[in-house]
Amino acid sequence: MGTLDINKQIKRHWEKYTIKEVGFINNTRFHPSRQKFVDYVILNHINSIVEIGAGELIEYSSIKEQNPDIKYGVIDISDVFLDYCRREHPTIDVFQCPIEKYSSDRQFDLVYAMSVIEHLGDVESAICNMSHISREFYYVLFKWKNSEEELVPNLSKRQCRECKKDKLKIKKYKETREKTKRVIKKCSKEIIRYKNEITKYISKITHASETVQYKSKIVQYKNKITQCENKIAKYRNEVTQYKDEIMK
Ligand SMILES: C[S@@+](CC[C@H](N)C(=O)[O-])C[C@H]1O[C@@H](n2cnc3c(N)ncnc32)[C@H](O)[C@@H]1O
Repeated sequence: MGTLDINKQIKRHWEKYTIKEVGFINNTRFHPSRQKFVDYVILNHINSIVEIGAGELIEYSSIKEQNPDIKYGVIDISDVFLDYCRREHPTIDVFQCPIEKYSSDRQFDLVYAMSVIEHLGDVESAICNMSHISREFYYVLFKWKNSEEELVPNLSKRQCRECKKDKLKIKKYKETREKTKRVIKKCSKEIIRYKNEITKYISKITHASETVQYKSKIVQYKNKITQCENKIAKYRNEVTQYKDEIMK
């Protein structure tokens, strides 16, 4: 499967990153969900894994330390993450392909996806393709800094079509993620707007000192600055409240 089959816009989205500087990865590098997965793999003697969208392969490094013979594959679309994988872990089997289009007769004990399926458009095709390569699917979803793990132990082609619970849960996560992005974007825009207003009034105060009615002008501009500061506090508060709400 060549890179031409990958939606260019989506691919570009996942290639704007620099290894070791990815915000999401750095913020979750030591997240308990990663360790939970590693423990699951070791305790259950899983010997072959294919990871969808592996990023910097954090879990793989821990698993490899405890099971150096682990057979590992990665399916991803991003040259940035795949080049890193080829460079740092040359024994890993790399497949460059969107999981929604992946087809192969290779078999793995388990498919793993950490913070990936909530980003996909066609979740059903992705899960169906996974069912051809493994009977077990372990995924982690992220909602702000909260996470939720799910193990689908008997992933068959028939079952994946009936995976309603998983699809609904993933849909809910996707919606929350989109709404979070919208709220934060709107509030950030407003905060920048009011910060610019403050800069404008500070400059007006400097100029007003040179005019005759400078005292009344300065009071007027200072009031404007206070109003802007209140607006900024309101938007900051909105973001905090929203984050608190989705963390519940
Ligand atoms: C948010 S990152 C998660 C990285 C890693 N799993 C982690 O938790 O650190 C999403 C990853 O999924 C990959 N990805 C996005 N869409 C994909 C698709 N349709 N098929 C396969 N991989 C995809 C991205 O390139 C990226 O590596």
